[in-house]
Amino acid sequence: GNRTFTMIKPDAVGANNTGAITKMIEEAGFRIVAMKKTQLTKERAGQFYAIHKERPFYKDLCDYMSSGPIVPMILEKANAVEDFRKLIGATDPKKAEPGTIRNLFAKSIEANAIHGSDSDVNADIEGSFFFAGQEKY
Ligand code: GTP
Ligand code: MG
Repeated sequence: GNRTFTMIKPDAVGANNTGAITKMIEEAGFRIVAMKKTQLTKERAGQFYAIHKERPFYKDLCDYMSSGPIVPMILEKANAVEDFRKLIGATDPKKAEPGTIRNLFAKSIEANAIHGSDSDVNADIEGSFFFAGQEKY
């Protein structure tokens, strides 16, 4: 697949790191297809992360993800999903490789700066959660 979905999370937007992170994404060869700044309600965060609803951190995650603005984006590059997950690094910033976005910008396993879709199917579903067809250039 040649597209993935990402969002810069409230910790990184709040720390004024949107520009630095977007620069890393472009320099890694991804083209920004769609981008905006918005904020999730708790209910919409719950829908986005419904796959995690049985996990112990679900409520905290929904509170956190609705706590401030986010910057969702659709990105294009060959092998987008896999290459983007390499660029962001492990979920837990303590385990993220040096030079990855989470290594550089994440604050904790929850406030971990950025999301990256885990499959082509989910990239499409997640992109459509935020963007209408005519916004995906
Ligand atoms: P995403 O790209 O955001 O989906 O992260 P991921 O695929 O690396 O991790 P996963 O899908 O397993 O978890 C989704 C999000 O839940 C993570 O990015 C964290 O923000 C949060 N999360 C994951 N594990 C934990 C945990 O053990 N505790 C807490 N508080 N939050 C967690
Ligand atoms: Mg995930």
